[in-house]
Amino acid sequence: KLQQLDLRLMTDSTNEALKGEGFAHNKLVVAEYQSAGRGRRGRKWVSPIASNLYWSLGWKTQLPVQQLGGLSLVVGLSIVSALEKLGVTGVEVKWPNDVRYQGRKLGGILVELSGDMVGGLNVIIGVGLNVHMANGAASSIEQEWINLQELKPNISRQDVLTAVIQELQKSLEQFAEHGFDAFTEQWSRVDECFNKKVAIIQNDDVVNGIGAGVDSNGAFLLQTGKGIKPIYAGEVSLRFR
Ligand code: ATP
Ligand code: BTN
Repeated sequence: KLQQLDLRLMTDSTNEALKGEGFAHNKLVVAEYQSAGRGRRGRKWVSPIASNLYWSLGWKTQLPVQQLGGLSLVVGLSIVSALEKLGVTGVEVKWPNDVRYQGRKLGGILVELSGDMVGGLNVIIGVGLNVHMANGAASSIEQEWINLQELKPNISRQDVLTAVIQELQKSLEQFAEHGFDAFTEQWSRVDECFNKKVAIIQNDDVVNGIGAGVDSNGAFLLQTGKGIKPIYAGEVSLRFR
């Protein structure tokens, strides 16, 4: 069901390649490496050559923008299911966009909107997954990380990409039809924060609590002394305590 496949040796960022005129529904941009791979809020995504997966998918949707909060979680779920099908178990998602294994970052998801809003929202779904990144390339990553190859030796990037895209396309159909509600049960199986002590950090403001799942818009539910508080992904960071 992919409409267009754009394979590149190098690009600044596969998300950037889908912005503006570059956007098309079900267009997949894959790059061998990125010169300016990005995470949330302009953070750098380390993207060396011939080692990992960097790709972005264009997705046009009629869903209202408030419902898109659940989208990065659905993408995370699709990655976990695809990896399970390839025999890799134990991968979790740290709300809202980190793919992790035993607390080490295996990949990340960057969902963005592109300019043209005629006939629906143009959503860009960007995914980076570490497959066999050389250690030297990763010296600038300031948190614990891991390669898929450590979880399954000789895993093929091609197989991972194919499996994830397949899962994702199924999930996107469901998401478009039923929103995040269709996924809340699955989410609880991969939710790294469930029942854990966490801190939500927004600018200089820190709120402590315990992870209590997510709501039907994909907002994080923080159990605090004063009851359950929904947290929206926008500008917050989540840390374990
Ligand atoms: P937050 O909770 O605020 O989102 P975060 O540290 O996960 O925190 P992101 O913007 O989601 O921030 O991800 C970017 C971060 O991921 C970088 O600052 C870096 O620490 C880490 N990182 C960058 N490249 C890689 C990579 N290839 N593999 C694993 N981690 C990476
Ligand atoms: C994060 O953890 O903050 C998200 C990282 C997302 C990285 C991917 S790699 C492909 C796509 N292009 C980018 O510049 N970023 C995403």
